[in-house]
Amino acid sequence: MLNDISKILFDEKQLNTMVQKLADRINSDYAGKQIILVGLLKGSVVFLSDLMRKIKVPCTVDFMVVSSYGASTVSSGNVKISRDLSSSIEGKNVLIVEDIIDSGNTLSCLLELLKCRNPESLKLCSLLSKPSRREKEVYIDYLGTEIPDEFVVGYGLDYNELYRNLPYLGVLKPEVYS
Ligand code: IMP
Ligand code: MG
Repeated sequence: MLNDISKILFDEKQLNTMVQKLADRINSDYAGKQIILVGLLKGSVVFLSDLMRKIKVPCTVDFMVVSSYGASTVSSGNVKISRDLSSSIEGKNVLIVEDIIDSGNTLSCLLELLKCRNPESLKLCSLLSKPSRREKEVYIDYLGTEIPDEFVVGYGLDYNELYRNLPYLGVLKPEVYS
């Protein structure tokens, strides 16, 4: 284990089981349909690459780079899109894939925005959620697990762009960022 990590929350095997359970539900819910998986860069890439290989229904993949302007300053519907989808989602089954829902600001804005593009269906899959940090309510259709309010890295999640490559999900020692 890396010295900057205080504890491992989920190791590779536990993450694999969690992702498989999500894929099983997705496969059964979308049986006979086609999905567009929308990965939110960059945090979701490791989760998405594992999840998509367990998805058995026809699917395409697209990516977005989004960030919220923050809850205090702007109302819902305001999300900064640095990279938009490469094709239309009108009439399509869209499944957003995210690493973690924290305040919920980014996703509540993004869901509103994508709804206006008239997809057939729009759902959210997130590996992690910190419910104690929520500022905006977000319904997570497919959730890996809830975690306490600790800063986690690895399996795609970063601190200052580092640690995304760790194969496990660990808690970052507070002295690293304070
Ligand atoms: P929010 O839900 O709008 O607050 O934004 C969630 C985003 O904040 C996630 O997509 C992550 O990029 C980032 N984030 C929140 N909590 C953590 C964490 O514990 N580790 C790494 N990134 C986090
Ligand atoms: Mg993110």
